[in-house]
Amino acid sequence: MPTLTDPDVTYQAAFLSSWDDFAAAGEEADQLMGAWSSRNIDYTRDLLATEDGFTMLVADLLSDRSEIPESSSMVPHSALWWVEGDRWIGRTSIRHELNGFLLEMGGHIGYSVRPGERGKGHATAILAASLAYAAGLGIEEVLVTCSDDNIASRRTIEANGGALEDERHGRLRYWIATA
Ligand SMILES: CC(C)(COP(=O)(O)OP(=O)(O)OC[C@H]1O[C@@H](n2cnc3c(N)ncnc32)[C@H](O)[C@@H]1OP(=O)(O)O)[C@@H](O)C(=O)NCCC(=O)NCCS
Repeated sequence: MPTLTDPDVTYQAAFLSSWDDFAAAGEEADQLMGAWSSRNIDYTRDLLATEDGFTMLVADLLSDRSEIPESSSMVPHSALWWVEGDRWIGRTSIRHELNGFLLEMGGHIGYSVRPGERGKGHATAILAASLAYAAGLGIEEVLVTCSDDNIASRRTIEANGGALEDERHGRLRYWIATA
């Protein structure tokens, strides 16, 4: 059974294998794997294939839980990886608070599953585990959004008890109690 795990340098090979899976499917690996942080570093595959580059990504993601530079519009967030053994299956990002953009469109939680592992219930389990994590942060209700044509994400949210509030800018906005 996979678990939500803190980013760690030991997952470098697994992460890169997953990156290649996204790229082969024609999807934006950097976006979908959450390889971004408030530090605005362009984490290319070449950079992440180096020990220093991957170490920097892990450090950036972990520090974003508590320290966001004033120049960034991001809010503190926890990036967590859904891994089993040496397999990197998916990820989630849990924002600790909402800013204007997140309230309107982005929501508290964003997740993705590598293409080769889809349709096996991972996203549903990732969101359930993310709700428990958010509860641990003291967030009682989370906003989760998806594009109105993203059926898999919609089902993921509804399976986790999402209550539809409305649609804004093509995104469905659901609220879910975390406990
Ligand atoms: C959306 C995403 C996270 C779903 O991941 P997943 O692990 O395949 O999802 P699950 O296996 O938990 O399935 C969730 C539901 O979607 C359904 N589903 C999965 N793939 C589907 C597809 N291609 N078409 C329609 N329904 C689909 C499943 O049957 C399940 O519904 P059910 O519970 O009613 O049976 C994954 O497709 C992904 O990473 N997409 C790109 C990133 C993204 O869109 N993230 C969400 C941003 S809001």
